[in-house]
Amino acid sequence: MFPVFFKLSFCLLFLRHLARVTDVDATDTSNPHLNYGLVVDCGSSGSRIFVYCWPRHNGNPHELLDIRQMRDQHRKPVVMKIKPGISELAKTPEKASDYMYPLLSFAAQHIPKNKHQETPLYILCTAGMRVLPESQQEAILEDLRTDIPVHFNFLFSDSHVEVISGKQEGVYAWIGINFVLGRFNHGDSDGEAEVEVHVPSIDQQDTLRRKRTAGVLDMGGVSTQIAYEVPKTVRFVSPQQEEVAKNLLAEFNLGCDAHRTEHVYRVYVSTFLGFGGNAARQRYEENLMRKTITRNKLLGEHVGETAESPLPDPCLPTDLEDQIGTSTEKLYLRGTGDFDQCRQILQPFLNRSNDTHSSLNGVYQPAIDYSNSQFYGFSEFYYCTEDVLRMGGDYNASKYAAAAKGYCATKWKTLQERFDSGLYASHADYHRLKYQCFKSAWMYEVFHSGFSFPTNYKNLKTALLVYEKEVQWTLGAILYRTRFLPLRDIQQESLKGTHSHWRHSFSFVNNHYLFLACFFIVLLSIILYLMRLRRIHRLAVKHYTPSSVPWLEEGLGPPMLPIIL
Ligand SMILES: *[C@@H]1O[C@H](CO)[C@@H](O)[C@H](O)[C@H]1NC(C)=O
Ligand SMILES: *[C@@H]1O[C@H](CO)[C@@H](O)[C@H](O)[C@H]1NC(C)=O
Ligand SMILES: *[C@@H]1O[C@H](CO)[C@@H](O)[C@H](O)[C@H]1NC(C)=O
Repeated sequence: MFPVFFKLSFCLLFLRHLARVTDVDATDTSNPHLNYGLVVDCGSSGSRIFVYCWPRHNGNPHELLDIRQMRDQHRKPVVMKIKPGISELAKTPEKASDYMYPLLSFAAQHIPKNKHQETPLYILCTAGMRVLPESQQEAILEDLRTDIPVHFNFLFSDSHVEVISGKQEGVYAWIGINFVLGRFNHGDSDGEAEVEVHVPSIDQQDTLRRKRTAGVLDMGGVSTQIAYEVPKTVRFVSPQQEEVAKNLLAEFNLGCDAHRTEHVYRVYVSTFLGFGGNAARQRYEENLMRKTITRNKLLGEHVGETAESPLPDPCLPTDLEDQIGTSTEKLYLRGTGDFDQCRQILQPFLNRSNDTHSSLNGVYQPAIDYSNSQFYGFSEFYYCTEDVLRMGGDYNASKYAAAAKGYCATKWKTLQERFDSGLYASHADYHRLKYQCFKSAWMYEVFHSGFSFPTNYKNLKTALLVYEKEVQWTLGAILYRTRFLPLRDIQQESLKGTHSHWRHSFSFVNNHYLFLACFFIVLLSIILYLMRLRRIHRLAVKHYTPSSVPWLEEGLGPPMLPIIL
């Protein structure tokens, strides 16, 4: 009996897990208990609207709302994007609400009409708007605040339209990722790693153990960002450091009740402009130009002035020829593909100071417990490890360095041939091939020298998606901003006196395909088991008694549901 039972429970656990992470069914808009929420992300190149929905809170104060992206009949996430960015309206702010209209009417069509007035709408603006003068920002926001309520019936107030800071955006991204990873559920720790946390309470410090959250590293083209939880109270060496740190630490309560401290998080977020992969290469090339020109003048040399006498560049693959600069000031480069030397000459670009507890540009960085922490590396962290080197996922510094070194040292012609024969990941392109050597060295230096992760650090995972999903900061934003909503549901719940753990889990059953697949695997195992049993019985005893049948009825019928529910 054991093997079948084992398979059954394993299968159901697996199913439960999958159901939690791959909720790909169309959203049931006829469900009267479903709540909706809207977030518009106004970025620099365009605006996107995301529609989220969640069932009523399950009444368990250890858990947060179960927020997901709404899916249409074709199971596609309900998202719409328009171009250009809203900041283009700086000179014509009165057009802001017209600009927003298509997004909002798109969302309005998807959400049942009777739900509109309880559906919160948030319009949150990032990079593009941040750089506008405050008066222009205000004019745009004011137009939205005045005109949107005229045309739409969503739950909307002045505070729902905002230009958010880079720090807020980073915190929201951190919340979104940890929510998808299930790190905020404190009911059962599922054997996952825990940390000890000091949370501030009314008059003293509380210490509690809860699930460890994941830190986030994200290296884009222009900037690099780091965000992680700081579980212990931090002490500062000086008032100046404390002042700086305050701007980089965020403390917030994700729980639905401000008096409960179990959902209080202290998160460090820092963004480094000019430390993205492309921006770093640009800084490097500008520096190369300046130094070479000065040197040539001083020594009367002509290094790099013609294709015949190129400047050697250890950060380009061997024998790759390149030109940088403008038509009037050109520099010819030729790759020498030396990973270690490249890393060495990139050091000054990290602009580290000698202070401990500081990272890139000498910016304050609270201590990281390298023996009990976990980080996810996105964007360039993933491309650098996966596109060409094919080692995305669990990061191992020595393996990565060896592979990157090999790549740099390979002749450019060979790399092109490999590329043409489709050896690299599908989204790798010519640009990736050319700058992979530079970027892999840059990523290594930023991670190990900049953020000071030891080279034997075991817990960095590079990734494009979390559980097959692209996680937007907007998910963290809706989660954070609707955090007090469960209170209402919990109160209703306790009035009725029902404990509704099962309703929460009930959606797992809606995953029919998985459920059916699992069911058939179990059925097949039972048939095979029965056949074997029958054979054994035939061999062993003359009087065949179907002793296994009662067990089957007891074991497979009803109990199957309680296990899932
Ligand atoms: C950092 O320390 C080294 C030696 O320990 C010293 O040579 C260097 O000048 C210091 N740099 C700064 C920015 O203080
Ligand atoms: C280098 O760091 C210092 C602070 O330590 C900062 O003032 C300076 O602007 C940084 N340089 C660059 C190029 O970012
Ligand atoms: C990285 O891989 C090497 C070689 O396979 C292994 O010896 C080492 O223990 C690994 N390092 C870590 C931190 O896992």
